Amino acid sequence: MRNNPLLNRYDIHTAILSNEKVAEDHYLLRCECAEIAHHARPGQFVHVLISYGAGLLLRRPFTIYTVENSQITMLYQIIGEGTQRLSEMSKGATLQVLGPLGNTFDIAKAPPELAILVGGGAGIASLMLLAAVLRARGIQTLGLVGAQHRARLLSVTDLKSIGIDVHIATDDGSIGHHGYITDVLAALLGKTERHRPTIYACGPHGMLAAVTKIAADFEVPAQVAMENRMGCAMGVCLGCVCPVRIDATHVEYQRVCTEGPVFNATDIVWDI
Ligand SMILES: Cc1cc2nc3c(=O)[nH]c(=O)nc-3n(C[C@H](O)[C@H](O)[C@H](O)COP(=O)(O)OP(=O)(O)OC[C@H]3O[C@@H](n4cnc5c(N)ncnc54)[C@H](O)[C@@H]3O)c2cc1C
Ligand code: FES
Repeated sequence: MRNNPLLNRYDIHTAILSNEKVAEDHYLLRCECAEIAHHARPGQFVHVLISYGAGLLLRRPFTIYTVENSQITMLYQIIGEGTQRLSEMSKGATLQVLGPLGNTFDIAKAPPELAILVGGGAGIASLMLLAAVLRARGIQTLGLVGAQHRARLLSVTDLKSIGIDVHIATDDGSIGHHGYITDVLAALLGKTERHRPTIYACGPHGMLAAVTKIAADFEVPAQVAMENRMGCAMGVCLGCVCPVRIDATHVEYQRVCTEGPVFNATDIVWDI
C-alpha cells in the first residue's frame, strides 16, 4: 500500500469480499479498504486497477457507494471491457483501489430543510453515501430514482432501509412514473414551496442538464456529480475537463477528477 497521509489518499491492494449481481447489468462489489473507508465523504470516488492485462492499463473510476466499518462497496454498471471483466471477478480476486478522490457534496454551508436526491441509472450510486449522512443529521430526504425499466432499477431497498421516501420513474413505465425522473422532480418542486429544498443529482449528461433547468426555473440550489471519462484521476492528463462558468463573461475548463466531481449545477455550461 502506498499512501499520502497529507492528502488522505491511499492506494490499496485488496481482495474482493463479494461481487454480486443486483440488477440487469449491474453489480455490487465489496472490499476491505480501511483507510479509504475511514476518510470517504459523500460524492468521492475511487480509481480501480482491475487488471494489468492488455487493454486495461487505465484504472476505472467508481463512486464509493457505502462505507461499513473498514469496508467499502461500489455499485457499477457493465459498460465496456473494464466493467465486464470486473463483473466476472470472484471473491478473493485482487484489485488495486486508489482513493478517496475528488471533492464532496456540500451540505455544511447551507444544510437543506429538504434534500432531493435525483439518480438516473447507475448515477444513484453517487448519492447513497450522501443519503446516509443526510439521514444521520435528521434532514428530510427524498430519493428520486430513474431507470430504463424495472429490471434495471437500483438502490430502492437501500434508500428505504435508511428511512428515505422513494419515487420511481422508468422509461417504459414498467414500474413507477412512465417517463423521466425529471418529470417527477418538476411535479414535486411544484408542491414543496414551503420547504427550502436542495437538489443533489447524478446520472446521464442529458438528465443533469434537465435537472439544472428545472432547478433554475424553481430557483432551487442544485449540486451535480459529473462522470466524465477519466484517464489519470490525479489532475494531470486533463482528459476529464468540463466547462464551468466563472462569472458572467468567463468560462473555464475544470477537472472533474480534482475540482469535481461535484459542481454547482448552474455553474456548468451544459450546451458546449
Ligand atoms: C467520478 C466518477 C464516478 C463514477 N462512478 C460510477 C459508479 O459508481 N458506478 C458506475 O457504474 N459507473 C461509474 N462511473 C462510470 C464508470 O467509470 C465507467 O462506466 C467505466 O469506467 C467504464 O469502463 P469500461 O472499461 O467498462 O468501459 P469502456 O468504455 O471500455 O472504457 C474505456 C475508457 O473510458 C472510460 N469511461 C468509459 N465510460 C465512462 C464513463 N461513463 N465515465 C467515466 N469514464 C468512462 C473508462 O474509465 C476507460 O478509461 C463513474 C465515473 C466517474 C468519472
Ligand atoms: S482524469 Fe486526468 S486530469 Fe482528470
